Amino acid sequence: MIAVFCSGQGTNLQAILEAARDKRVPARVGLVITDQARAKALQRARRFGVEAHFVNPRQFPAKADYERALIKLCQVNGVVLVCLAGFMRVLSPVFVSHFSGRILNIHPALLPAFPGAHAVRDALAWGAKVAGVTVHFVDEKVDHGPILLQEAVPIASGDTEGSLFSRIHKVEHRLYPKAIRLVLEGKVRIRGRRVVFTGR
Ligand code: GAR
Repeated sequence: MIAVFCSGQGTNLQAILEAARDKRVPARVGLVITDQARAKALQRARRFGVEAHFVNPRQFPAKADYERALIKLCQVNGVVLVCLAGFMRVLSPVFVSHFSGRILNIHPALLPAFPGAHAVRDALAWGAKVAGVTVHFVDEKVDHGPILLQEAVPIASGDTEGSLFSRIHKVEHRLYPKAIRLVLEGKVRIRGRRVVFTGR
């Protein structure tokens, strides 16, 4: 069982839901969690008949309590892999250590370039010629864990944040299901900072 955590549109969630439905990902999405009441991800999940929860961080006295509630929901649903897909909260060691090596994140840049919440805007402002997508394991630091897959996306001279983001999204929707499949099929091992592929 996979859990997907989102904060917004949920287009990556949609790509994962479709991949699971079409058996391109060898597991069911059993749980979707958002930290935003209006996240479109909630509707997308329910359209696929997937249990979806808005868990409001403000209803918990501390971040650790919030994360313990997320852990409990995952445990109840037999979650083996947590996929962050536009989940705009930094998970603390409480959550990360519980699911160590079993949390993935997708980021719209070629890490370690342009970490943070505005990677596409930052790449354009910097004048970079290449943007990209990274899928990585999550560790205790932001946008930092071992890299599983990356793909470059060239930046055109007339690009706006919107035009570049839409090309990046297309790559994300292909790369994330592929990364999830590799992990679930047991074809990757984490060796320090490196992710090595076995049996591919
Ligand atoms: C995605 O582009 C993802 O890479 C990005 O948020 C977007 C969510 O889109 N994540 C980050 O910037 C994390 N630092 P979606 O809700 O349509 O999947």
